Amino acid sequence: MTTQTLQQTQSATLTYDGKSVTLPLVRGTEDEVAADIEKLRAQTGMITLDPGYGNTGACKSAITFIDGEKGILRYRGYPIEELAEKSNFLEVSWLLLHGELPTRAQLAEFTNEVTRHTLLHENFRRFFDALPKDAHPMPVCAAAVAALATFYQEPDSDSKLQETVVRLIAKMPTLAAYSYKHSIGQPFIYPRNGLDYSTNFLNMMFATPCDEYQVDPLLARALDLLLILHADHEQNCSTSTVRMVGSSQANLFASISAGISALWGPLHGGANQQVIEMLERIEAEGGDVQKFVDRAKDKKDNSRLMGFGHRVYKNYDPRAAVLKKSCTDVLSRLGIKSRQLEIAVKLEEIALRDDYFVSHKLYPNVDFYSGIIYKALGIPINMFTVMFAIGRMPGWIAQWLEMRSDPANRIGRPRQIYTGATKRGYVAIDQRGR
Ligand code: ACO
Repeated sequence: MTTQTLQQTQSATLTYDGKSVTLPLVRGTEDEVAADIEKLRAQTGMITLDPGYGNTGACKSAITFIDGEKGILRYRGYPIEELAEKSNFLEVSWLLLHGELPTRAQLAEFTNEVTRHTLLHENFRRFFDALPKDAHPMPVCAAAVAALATFYQEPDSDSKLQETVVRLIAKMPTLAAYSYKHSIGQPFIYPRNGLDYSTNFLNMMFATPCDEYQVDPLLARALDLLLILHADHEQNCSTSTVRMVGSSQANLFASISAGISALWGPLHGGANQQVIEMLERIEAEGGDVQKFVDRAKDKKDNSRLMGFGHRVYKNYDPRAAVLKKSCTDVLSRLGIKSRQLEIAVKLEEIALRDDYFVSHKLYPNVDFYSGIIYKALGIPINMFTVMFAIGRMPGWIAQWLEMRSDPANRIGRPRQIYTGATKRGYVAIDQRGR
């Protein structure tokens, strides 16, 4: 891996109230530049205001690089398209965690460790029993990951941290499959050590004690691909949550559980579920794609084109390009003619020609095609965001580890501009009117 030492050789000058303040510039290895405002408040009393942190660098990170204008995504320097074509999810997980591609021996050992930690403690069955049958699997998984901290004490200690990392990657598919089995009232299917990561997950989801379930290798590969594409995406909402929670020295299980909750929102990982619901709605209403695009543009209408737009990508999301092709492969392998895929392709065509979407730089994101593949694999809609969480696990962990080992790390604590009432006296209750 080639890394350059970050340099602070230049500065920017901010003029405020007749005074000038010099802000050091920080450069990344891809030549991105940041003005370091850490001392701004001490020098001027001023803070910066940036709702949604759209232009705020919260850390320096060597894990993932995105150039949203050019549609580039790289993990540890490797282009996502190459990893999608040539790698597998556990190899990518190692890469994210360690910074380098593993040797054959390292990958074999990591795969073996992950395989041996997939089983859940038997007492965990009672955890699922306590939850309502119709519970959404996302809060079930968030709660289950937090609950792992009750089974494994001091998970961040020097002697246990490595095992905690392996446990999270190993047990997440088991927790996810158990949350699904619980919701449909079927017995849990134990993990099988002879199966690879994705095949094992599909087996735990779809096998029953009465039926053998043969996993089609092409479908297991499609799932593996989806996991690779979701494995990291630098400082998004859920990852920043993981870092923020971890910055208080909360343990890794607690931090990841918070990340899963953040991912659940419809504007983040929850969008994949929303995309399929949108496509179903368009289909049910007769398939008038143009009408839906017009509604998404209408500011008086709350509809958005789900799976379109991104805070960072102002060009085609490279993950969506890989998934569009995989979508066609999976459906043709299964012999499925999907009306929803037809609607999705048409939506994309119309939106990419439409002035509104062009001028707002709105392109399909990773969620636009992923739901169609999940659906074809037989994954129920309310499990889509859980699939995202399985994939994002190594990225969250790598970011948390990087944050913890960074000497510059401090507890996350943003500032605010107060807009409420100025000082006033307490009013007794009988003098407050009705
Ligand atoms: N459909 C229609 N208009 C949109 C869409 C959309 N999907 N996305 C953004 N816009 C418009 C907004 O109305 C706004 O228009 P205006 O400037 O004329 O008022 C402009 O584009 C900017 O939108 P913001 O919401 O300010 O952009 P932001 O960067 O905050 O949001 C987001 C990004 C949340 C992803 C947004 O594009 C969106 O809601 N997309 C649909 C949900 C989605 O697919 N989320 C998944 C994202 S990928 C991921 O998290 C894995």
